[in-house]
Amino acid sequence: MAAAGCGGSALSELPPGPGDPVRGESIAALAGGCGCHSAETGAPLSGGRALATPFGTFHSSNLTSDRETGLGAWTDDEIDAALRRGRLPDGSMESPVMPWYQYAGMADADARDLIAWMRTLEPVRRERSEDETFLPRLAFRAWALLFAPPLPEAPEEAPTEPLARGRYLVKHVSICGDCHTPRGIFGAPDSDLELAGHSGILPDDGVVPNITPDRATGIGDWDLDDLVSVLEMGMLPNLDSVSGLMAEVVDGVHGAPGYGRAPLEDLRAIAGYLRTVAPIPHAVREAKDNES
Ligand code: HEC
Repeated sequence: MAAAGCGGSALSELPPGPGDPVRGESIAALAGGCGCHSAETGAPLSGGRALATPFGTFHSSNLTSDRETGLGAWTDDEIDAALRRGRLPDGSMESPVMPWYQYAGMADADARDLIAWMRTLEPVRRERSEDETFLPRLAFRAWALLFAPPLPEAPEEAPTEPLARGRYLVKHVSICGDCHTPRGIFGAPDSDLELAGHSGILPDDGVVPNITPDRATGIGDWDLDDLVSVLEMGMLPNLDSVSGLMAEVVDGVHGAPGYGRAPLEDLRAIAGYLRTVAPIPHAVREAKDNES
């Protein structure tokens, strides 16, 4: 078990050998194209997006291979430590806005291939803006120790059996819960309401629906194909399109891949797993309507 925030281990957690950028692109698609790292303007994944949280506004980092402002000068192990452990090369921790504690369960081979894909991104020079937060950087180390959910063990290879694969993708690659699970006061996901939605603060002040199979408040009356259509095309059963952040992860931002470009059997695995999670009655749309 790796202990979060306890300094770097010299041993690589990545499998030896070069990663496969083509497989990596499909991992990136399953990860919604890492869309938080794309801003409204500028090249995809060159960072600079402002992410508002109760703890201040954070600015995403440049993932392109520019040597000075991006990841061009980082080693694969340094990128991996940031992705799956929240550890930065200077020894500090990332802010919890970056869901490293969910990517922590990403398979070693998938992390290696995703990094190989990131290396193919055109280098784009873009300085990162300072975060506007009242928290000292040290607070992120404390957060990792005190509030981060227990870190999952990463398998060497991703599961292939459909149900296990769907669970793996939902939790550690596509991180549906990063948006669909409400957070407690310290910003950690509330595991009692996993995937049950919320009407909390979102950039566009929207509602994130309950995607557990509860019939009254979730998506219990959707069938497997309804779910696959949302992930593949952003199309809802009533033929409306999803908007906002969900549209971003489905379509990808500025030409980066999104769920819609992931292998169909993976989208089916995600949908199949979601139909097996415990239904949680949690009305988020009504709650929002009552507030206004
Ligand atoms: C970056 C944030 C984000 C991520 C990640 C995300 N979603 Fe969403 N999702 C949303 C938002 C916001 C909406 C509401 C969109 C709207 O109102 O048009 C939504 C809507 C949906 C809906 C429509 C539900 C309904 O009742 O209308 C489904 C189904 C869904 N998401 C499934 C998923 C699955 C499965 C994943 C992971 C594979 C996922 N989402 C990942 C933000 C996200």
